[in-house]
Amino acid sequence: MTIFIMAFSACGTTDDDIILKPNGTVADPRELSAGRSTVFMTSIRAYDTPSDWVTGTLLDRFNNGDKLYDDPRTSDQNDPLQGGLGPLYAGFSCGSCHKNAGRTYPTLHSEGGSGSSGFSSALVYITRKNGKFFRQYGRVLHDQSIFGVKAEGKLKVQYEEKEYSFPDGEKYSLVTPHYSISEWYADSIAPEDLIIDVHIPLRHVGMGQIMALDTDELRRLAAQSNYPEYGISGRLSVITERNKSYVGVGGNKAHHADLTVELGFSSDLGVTNDRYPLEIAEGQSQMIGYSHYGIQISTKDMEDVDLYMSTLGVPARRNVNNETVLKGEANFYKAKCHLCHTPTLHTRQDAPVLLNGTRLPWLSSQTIHPYSDFLLHDMGKGLDNHATIGVARSYEWRTTPLWGIGLQETVNGHTFFLHDGRARNFTEAIMWHDGEGAVSRELFSRMSKEDRDALIVFLKSL
Ligand code: HEC
Ligand code: HEC
Repeated sequence: MTIFIMAFSACGTTDDDIILKPNGTVADPRELSAGRSTVFMTSIRAYDTPSDWVTGTLLDRFNNGDKLYDDPRTSDQNDPLQGGLGPLYAGFSCGSCHKNAGRTYPTLHSEGGSGSSGFSSALVYITRKNGKFFRQYGRVLHDQSIFGVKAEGKLKVQYEEKEYSFPDGEKYSLVTPHYSISEWYADSIAPEDLIIDVHIPLRHVGMGQIMALDTDELRRLAAQSNYPEYGISGRLSVITERNKSYVGVGGNKAHHADLTVELGFSSDLGVTNDRYPLEIAEGQSQMIGYSHYGIQISTKDMEDVDLYMSTLGVPARRNVNNETVLKGEANFYKAKCHLCHTPTLHTRQDAPVLLNGTRLPWLSSQTIHPYSDFLLHDMGKGLDNHATIGVARSYEWRTTPLWGIGLQETVNGHTFFLHDGRARNFTEAIMWHDGEGAVSRELFSRMSKEDRDALIVFLKSL
């Protein structure tokens, strides 16, 4: 349990909160990844623990949301709490892909795609070369289906490995994925007309804070984030939905301005809701008969899932005074990583509001350390997937927030990184940086092995 003490100054106005750690000592400000929502957890539950201010009815609703998020759904149409899965789907619960609110171990490397069990925990986006969807299939390939229905297709991946050396002689290798799809539901799609863009799940660390970001600060950052000497210039993602503009902060393409709960239930699980009342792939001939079930999750329940994700605590940084960590932190700045992976941002003053109107004042006016500018950057040819999502060009990606990244191995049992999980460790993730990230990559690779290792030890402290 963390305890908050409001410190009152002489004139009676509140100062910054002083936060006590579970062992009773005062937290170092550098440990506080998300202000009062910081949790001092280093276990497998590190991403999946409520902030300390989540109590009473809020905690009851958190627990309901957590359950709706994690419990496997079934195709039973008479069970409103767990039914409604499919007919087509990509995962059987939110947690099937976001295990422990993180990134489920991807089967891409171990099973070569959808694998023998058929479940990949990835989202497979498919489009035609001209950017349009395939009429039968829509935007996402659903490689799972309930009994009696045929999955849309199965993903296959082959990795091509190449070895490289750092200037000091140490070797590393990078693997490039090559995707294909087999067992199409109906029309086989000509590979010449097919673009396959595979994404592994994102960690849910700090979702509430991300949605509460002060977007004026991001706007200023985009205006200033121009370092011609390093070839860096970040771009704000402004998306228009239902005739309103929003700043996109969520997703690898910064294409979401909300937690996409309704879209997740509809497109990922095949669970219809008020916003998406039609079963996915409604037009497929095998879908006849599945459209009459109606709404399969209520807006009230979806708001609890929203609340669950928004109120998760953010794990505190660890070992902030360790000598190697401090050296690695200095190297992070020397390699200019901080020009995109912005260490400190703020949440806005007005409280975030959830789907059904619940306000969360605890998330406002907080100093946070997400290690991201939430802007889009040209990451070069190697990471160009030839597919556009939202306003992002095919080679542009949102800077991935690095808070909590050091615990991914504990929480999810792997160190696969980047949007498609091609990087098998921290070094490979950095060595894939190109385009606007090329200067950083070069500065990192020219460091001594000891300095590179220290930088990675610093990343593990996040
Ligand atoms: C088939 C696997 C799968 C399932 C099932 C799934 N997701 Fe995801 N989710 C993903 C992937 C992959 C991404 C990353 C997409 C991208 O590249 O932006 C993602 C991204 C997200 C994000 C954005 C995260 C961020 O950091 O911006 C949210 C929020 C989210 N999912 C919520 C949900 C919810 C809620 C459910 C259940 C209703 C769900 N997801 C079910 C795979 C899945
Ligand atoms: C030009 C902006 C930019 C710079 C500079 C930069 N990064 Fe990144 N970083 C990104 C973007 C964008 C991604 C997401 C790329 C993707 O997923 O394909 C990313 C992804 C990562 C990831 C993978 C995160 C994950 O969870 O998958 C790590 C680790 C990382 N960066 C570390 C670093 C380090 C260390 C440096 C300095 C040596 C650095 N970055 C410099 C923009 C940048």
